[in-house]
Amino acid sequence: MQQYSGTQKENRQTALELLREDGIFLPADCGGRGTCGKCRVRFLTGAPDATEEEKKKLTCEQLQDGVRLACRACPDGAFTLEYELAEEEIAVESIASEKDDAAKSAAAGADQETTKGLKTDTDAAAGEKKVAIDIGTTTIAAALVDAGSGQVLDTVTSVNHQRAFGADVISRIQASNDGKKEDLQKLVQQDLRSLITQLGEDPDTVPVIIAGNTTMQHLLLGLSCETLGVAPFTPVDISLHEVNNQLLLPGISTYVGADITAGIVATGMDRSDDICLLIDMGTNGEMAIGNKDRILVASTAAGPAFEGGNISCGVAGIPGAISRVTITDGKASCETIGGKEAVGLCGTGVLETMYELLKEEIVDETGLMDDDYVDDGFPLAGDIVFTDKDIREVQLAKSAIRAGAETLIREFGTTYKGISKLYLAGGFGQKIDLKKAAGIGILPEELTRRTEAAGNTSLQGAVMAALNESVKERFLHAVSVSEEVSLSESPVFNDLYVQYMFFE
Ligand code: FES
Repeated sequence: MQQYSGTQKENRQTALELLREDGIFLPADCGGRGTCGKCRVRFLTGAPDATEEEKKKLTCEQLQDGVRLACRACPDGAFTLEYELAEEEIAVESIASEKDDAAKSAAAGADQETTKGLKTDTDAAAGEKKVAIDIGTTTIAAALVDAGSGQVLDTVTSVNHQRAFGADVISRIQASNDGKKEDLQKLVQQDLRSLITQLGEDPDTVPVIIAGNTTMQHLLLGLSCETLGVAPFTPVDISLHEVNNQLLLPGISTYVGADITAGIVATGMDRSDDICLLIDMGTNGEMAIGNKDRILVASTAAGPAFEGGNISCGVAGIPGAISRVTITDGKASCETIGGKEAVGLCGTGVLETMYELLKEEIVDETGLMDDDYVDDGFPLAGDIVFTDKDIREVQLAKSAIRAGAETLIREFGTTYKGISKLYLAGGFGQKIDLKKAAGIGILPEELTRRTEAAGNTSLQGAVMAALNESVKERFLHAVSVSEEVSLSESPVFNDLYVQYMFFE
């Protein structure tokens, strides 16, 4: 717990805004709408009256104890409060080495692929350093490469501090449109500078190659996000972009950005004769199917359930997060990250709990929970429970991903048999148990044996572009053969979405 003392200004700012102005970034997953409860603080002095939202989210004891939602609480004058460091901040600090190893091996994979398929750029002098960066909505990863020798020298990760304006791209777009564009740009620039400095390089001079989703790239460039959030969802600029020492890789559309183009290149789909499927199971489930001649892409609003978001006891993949679950005779046994005391459920824990509840017939195929657990949820460890509402969140997420993938497969004119490889991108894809994923129906059983956890393919693609100038051509080719399928307008998707709400 840390303390902060401040004074209300004339314009009646919330505690969240006041802290943010002083460089303190509380988690604010719902973007300050008072719905996620993540921005809790405890007033030691000067607690304002509780608002209606706070009365709904907090218990009487908590309210009496001075606990408030920072995004709702407008102090009247001077005040002192206690706050906790954002959990993601702790996560990055305490599991930095684990993440770095993962990113390093991911980058090493890209390195190998590059040197296997292409000659490392002979123009680059040995010792010429470049930094490859993946700007994720939640996390930013950076790799230092020696472009001369083709070596990945080091990797670092950081929380994306824009999370103080909301956990997902929609909240960021909204914040940008509400006059916070410069703040958001400054935050991501600061994060990049800090990561590049940690890698021992000068942020003003070292060549930087960046992959990120379209919203992240717009915010970095300071472009307007006005058109990103409204139909027909037109981006301002998603071309290959060079600004000073930064090269931004090209995206395909507003919701299928350069991170997916990088995934297409990193997995080699853009050079493959065979049909491959790439799925990134983030809040926006992004996916691509195809080969070197034709690629179809789509994105689907899966929601954050598989990142621990919108789950009653959900947390990010932090130490103490339940990541493995087995249920036998109505009793759960859980494993946590780092073997620490359980603090909540992360994405893999959510998936495993769902699988086990179905296996034990505590939840039926329609998603109905046994009456014994409807009121208080199914107990996992300590106070951590899995509720009826959590099941709905999982149904929405898994149905969106599965229906999206099935629609793309059909639109492409192929079947499961025609797919040579399914690549799962991202941290969640790397850690899931494929049998359990197929068991709850996110993935088709038929493809599990041809599924490969591909890791952070966005960073891998950026590393490849950093190592070899000619990889830029591959990005441009990937964009030129890609076409977006609008799932929201697809009757096939809508039918499948309803169908996959059920657990088979
Ligand atoms: Fe305050 Fe979500 S409840 S940011």
